Amino acid sequence: MAIISSRQQSQNPDDGEQPKRPRGAKKTPKQAPKQTPQEAPQENPLLQPEAKVDEQGKQEDSIRPHRFEDYIGQKDLKDVLDIAMKAAKSRGEVLDHLLLYGPPGLGKTTMAMILASEMGVGCKITSAPALERPRDIAGLLVTLKPGDVLFIDEIHRLSRMAEEILYPAMEDYRLDVTVGKGTSARTRSIPLVKFTLVGATTRVGALTSPLRDRFGLVQKLRFYEPDELSKIVIRSAQLLNTSINIEGAEEVARRARGTPRIANRLLRRVRDYAEVKKCGEINRTVAAEALELFQVDPCGLDWTDRKMLSVIIEQFNGGPVGLETIAAATGEDTQTIEEVYEPYLMQIGYLSRTPRGRTATQAAYKHMGFKQNSSEQLSLL
Ligand SMILES: Nc1ncnc2c1ncn2[C@@H]1O[C@H](COP(=O)(O)OP(=O)(O)O)[C@@H](O)[C@H]1O
Ligand SMILES: [Mg+2]
Repeated sequence: MAIISSRQQSQNPDDGEQPKRPRGAKKTPKQAPKQTPQEAPQENPLLQPEAKVDEQGKQEDSIRPHRFEDYIGQKDLKDVLDIAMKAAKSRGEVLDHLLLYGPPGLGKTTMAMILASEMGVGCKITSAPALERPRDIAGLLVTLKPGDVLFIDEIHRLSRMAEEILYPAMEDYRLDVTVGKGTSARTRSIPLVKFTLVGATTRVGALTSPLRDRFGLVQKLRFYEPDELSKIVIRSAQLLNTSINIEGAEEVARRARGTPRIANRLLRRVRDYAEVKKCGEINRTVAAEALELFQVDPCGLDWTDRKMLSVIIEQFNGGPVGLETIAAATGEDTQTIEEVYEPYLMQIGYLSRTPRGRTATQAAYKHMGFKQNSSEQLSLL
């Protein structure tokens, strides 16, 4: 397994056409309503689904599943890939190019690595911002061995030139290079070995359609159900040599926003707490105490989630409220609201999208400690 990067990945969010702001980093609200001191935005890094710098290396790798059967949940995805792998193996062909999309932390990189090991081939891992110059991607393609998996993370950030090199490489396993300059410039084609490109993105809509169309398989990753996350927590706890019972795992899972990366991160914090306080086995009470200490909401909601719900409930009587209004009130941009916050709130049934705007559900009222106002309905009678 090789990690290829021609240069250090830039920390500068302006690097790339679509700057990606880390979750929790707030813009100045355009017309933010008054905030009480308690309400002031509190970033909770524990609840951010993106990998932190220390998680990108060994820490995540130590608990990352390496076999298909250890990959918990995502049944639809696994069913599709299982068939595709079996068919490719039986025909002695390489696996079709695969595009995985979905929010961060759901297991895209993990699945790419598992596919390579199940197919018995090598896996080269890179990320689109590292493929800025044409020779970065060309250099990678020529070093692939037959059947290898080339994993490109954040594939929606590929430069135009890199994309154009990829088209013939994906379609005909051919690398077109231009030799010479001006009138003497000529295109040469270099044959490539057959390989599988696995692309991962959090923003499938930002991919150009020629690129998207060249993937034989396009698969979405979903948020995990609490019981799946509990299994992930129990498995990770075993690998971390920590003892946790089922209720303890459920408590961690409940607060993990449907995301394995967050579940594993919360488990580490709970483990620290249990060790320092000498609690022994982690049970529901220990897990809840620890996570309260780290200010993790019982449903894993962070400041922006809560702000969204309270704006809809308090200022708009439960909605419907337009996306722009919610964005202005929370100081987030509409895209972040749509791609990061709303999917999870809808998954847990706190928010619904209607043609006229977003509405808060009864469950959201309950969670936020409000009573649903029925006077309006009564007055209609
Ligand atoms: N299906 C799964 N079963 C068990 N653990 C998982 C699963 N998916 C993800 N994880 C854990 O979550 C972490 C983040 O997953 P990763 O594949 O890096 O997410 P992504 O690439 O989608 O951001 C991994 O280290 C892994 O331990
Ligand atoms: Mg990843």
